[in-house]
Amino acid sequence: MQVNEKFVPTIVAFCCNWCSYAGADLSGTNRLQYPANVKIIRVPCSCRVNPMFILRAFQRGADGIIICGCHPGDCHYTTGNYYARRRMTMLFSMLDFLGIERKRTRLEWVSAAEGAKFAATMNSFVEEITSLGPNRRLEDLRCKK
Ligand code: FES
Repeated sequence: MQVNEKFVPTIVAFCCNWCSYAGADLSGTNRLQYPANVKIIRVPCSCRVNPMFILRAFQRGADGIIICGCHPGDCHYTTGNYYARRRMTMLFSMLDFLGIERKRTRLEWVSAAEGAKFAATMNSFVEEITSLGPNRRLEDLRCKK
């Protein structure tokens, strides 16, 4: 990155198929804007996100990672998001220990009817990561171009 080049963060968003992905779709249908540097990965449920996916994404150059799932009690698989919440709470505190700022990761509940919330969440997350700057921790130099 050049000194006077504006930093554009790479954001990875894991979205569950049944709610958050539909919410992202709705925000697109309603022409609500969110930054193009948010790379959405559709997963069947938020509990499908293995903690290794997060570590690998950081290794591969992600600056921020957000996991979006159904609201508690609305998970298509009944309790998947409860597992995700517990698992991510543990992982996020471990990342904190490794020196990755807590604000670089987020878990958010977005339903299929909340297109506006999806766009607002992505805009605020991108803004937050931009203010934090590039993520240098866990970066795998072999993944550099
Ligand atoms: Fe959406 Fe489980 S199906 S969080």
